[in-house]
Amino acid sequence: MTFPKDFVWGAATSAYQIEGGWNADGKGLSVWDYTSRAPGQVYQGHTGDIACDHYNRYEEDVDLMSQIGLRAYRFSLSWPRVMPEGTGKVNIAGLDFYDKLVDSLLTRNITPWVTLFHWDTPQAVHNRGSWLNRDISHWFADYAAAVADRLGDRVTNWITLNEPHIFLGPGEGEGFHPPGNRLNHRERLLAAHHALMCHGRAAQTLRARAKLPGQVGWAPIGRIKVPYHASLFQEAGDQSSSLPAQQDIDAAREQNNSVSSKDFWNNTWLADPVVLGSYPEDGLRLYGVDAPTPAPGDMELIRQPLDFYGVNIYDAEVFRRGENGRPVQVPFPPGHPQNALRWFIIPQALYWGCKFLYERYKTPICITENGLSNLDWVDLDGKVRDHQRIDYTRRYLRELRRASADGSADIRAYFHWSLLDNFEWQQGFKERFGLIHVDFSTLKRTLKESAHWYRGVIASNGDSL
Ligand code: FCB
Repeated sequence: MTFPKDFVWGAATSAYQIEGGWNADGKGLSVWDYTSRAPGQVYQGHTGDIACDHYNRYEEDVDLMSQIGLRAYRFSLSWPRVMPEGTGKVNIAGLDFYDKLVDSLLTRNITPWVTLFHWDTPQAVHNRGSWLNRDISHWFADYAAAVADRLGDRVTNWITLNEPHIFLGPGEGEGFHPPGNRLNHRERLLAAHHALMCHGRAAQTLRARAKLPGQVGWAPIGRIKVPYHASLFQEAGDQSSSLPAQQDIDAAREQNNSVSSKDFWNNTWLADPVVLGSYPEDGLRLYGVDAPTPAPGDMELIRQPLDFYGVNIYDAEVFRRGENGRPVQVPFPPGHPQNALRWFIIPQALYWGCKFLYERYKTPICITENGLSNLDWVDLDGKVRDHQRIDYTRRYLRELRRASADGSADIRAYFHWSLLDNFEWQQGFKERFGLIHVDFSTLKRTLKESAHWYRGVIASNGDSL
């Protein structure tokens, strides 16, 4: 079993989580700059003011990427760094930073994959009604145009939105991410409709304005359902050869593709419009009058050709066919392996996630995030021995390779989350996801053992797995 010849091996980050430079060179504030300061919002009052100080240390970071042998680097741009007020005036100095970063990557043969939006809504946009304001898709398109004009002669891989499920759910609906809104269900669905219009208009704009023809995708979260099989819960060994029963595969697929609760914890409510051009029937039935009424042209705008379906996959839920014929969830047994955030570890999420998404959307898949949060530290001898990250990634990548090799899906890329230990949203710096350890007092970087291991994986195109 092998990965395709031109498989893209990368690592990912996002602007607020690594850049720092929160008010440097004319940058405006984002809802994260603003609300992370509120008491109780982030673990121990941490903020991304400095984060990894990537804004000042990007050259060193690109050197480290090159030492790992990365072929591609996925990063996001800060909308308020480029447009401090979210609309109108462009901050040239902000674009200069991304311009230099792109050049620095290209010099080392690392392909930039640019995400336009990874949750840091400009505070000025928030003050104007944010995702509830139908005009937001025009503001977002203006931002996309400024980016395409400046970087579109060198950048050819674009991601519009990262995980709308999170900035709309925890951010706008449940209140535990900035801006801490508590919109009701109907409002959340309207905000989501506008976010999808942002995706559509940005995709159009990137294609129209970028000098080089590019690939445009998005990066939703994968709420993956894995079919039950006894081997799923055995810790050691390679479980990839055991196949679940057909009825349990069908039950997991059914659940994977259904909308069954009034939140964004599903795969299809947001993705069906983006890829298929309509909201899913079961969701429309469940949401009734709360569902948005699209204006003429909205659904066509939202459904733009998608060159790849990016997806962030970490964990999954397990389902089997119940006695009543319906899918039932099978809980993880006591002691099942978890990461430091207490997310269950289930490598088969990559196999079934790719398979089910590809079956439904028939679009090439890129894993835009996957990785392990762990409590790594620098040993006395200066090494970071994160063998659990290596084991985790090996298991997940084997499942990805299986999905690619047996034809379950056309899989084009894998981006490890994350390049650097960074600001993990409301967990602050408590969690470490990086291939590179960052000492947040001195900002010293240390390649972890996983980084050296990943270098071998990349060099062998996955054969060393
Ligand atoms: C994803 C986010 C990313 C990071 C990882 C751990 O949901 O997109 O920024 O926080 O989880």
